[in-house]
Amino acid sequence: VTVYLVGAGPGDPGLITARGLELVRSCDVVVHDRLVSDELVAEAPADAIRIPREDFEQRELSALLVSLGQRGLDVVRLKGGDPFLFGRGGEEAIALAEADVEFEVVPGVSSLAAAPGMSAIPITHRDLSSQVTIVSGHEPEGLDFAGLARARGTLVIFMGLAALKTIAERLIAAGKARDAPAAVISRGTTAEQETVVAPLFEIADAASALSPPALVVVGEVVAMREALHHRNRIHAPSLNGRSRG
Ligand SMILES: C[S@@+](CC[C@H](N)C(=O)[O-])C[C@H]1O[C@@H](n2cnc3c(N)ncnc32)[C@H](O)[C@@H]1O
Repeated sequence: VTVYLVGAGPGDPGLITARGLELVRSCDVVVHDRLVSDELVAEAPADAIRIPREDFEQRELSALLVSLGQRGLDVVRLKGGDPFLFGRGGEEAIALAEADVEFEVVPGVSSLAAAPGMSAIPITHRDLSSQVTIVSGHEPEGLDFAGLARARGTLVIFMGLAALKTIAERLIAAGKARDAPAAVISRGTTAEQETVVAPLFEIADAASALSPPALVVVGEVVAMREALHHRNRIHAPSLNGRSRG
């Protein structure tokens, strides 16, 4: 295998998998997303080539992975969260497969359950939610708001902070309860994690000062945070038990 599509986890460098860390520590090249912590990139060997992903368009990036792979280098493509959940890992895997370059997928801890989880919001609960709907809020005009408003359980919106006002208004217009419990978790699992909770109709205003990356959660499970968060210990983000302070 030459190209590894590795999930770096949701932010805390300690949340990469053991397999992912082993590969980072032995690679020739690491191509990393902006959201991946500097501490993880620093784990690559001193003489490894470090390439920030944002220097490239997606098509150029896939071509770069192919050409590095064809040279037989051990390439770690380090992506935030899980590589196949809104991570464009699929596009890169297709490019590698089409060029007949062998690759391996190393799953990661997605922010999907990790960011709400570390904020004391379980995204499912036996009595409250047995269904999770996951959407991208990046281009809200493409969303089926009627379907989302009807869906039971928990709604998790990735990339939804910028358009949150529109998304909330359209959900309510489509029949979702205006006082449905909602939360925004910003920079989840990092030392900068912040959580705002408000009814759906107020959530965009309440979260207006938060920074991306942020996850929006709508559903009854959000109300559980009230009962949990005062006893919820937040672990300091670190790698190998080394505390960042
Ligand atoms: C391009 S998607 C990548 C998702 C990633 N593959 C995953 O599995 O978590 C980026 C979006 O993921 C969410 N996200 C990623 N990391 C996050 C974090 N630490 N806290 C909150 N949301 C996060 C945000 O919605 C962000 O806009």
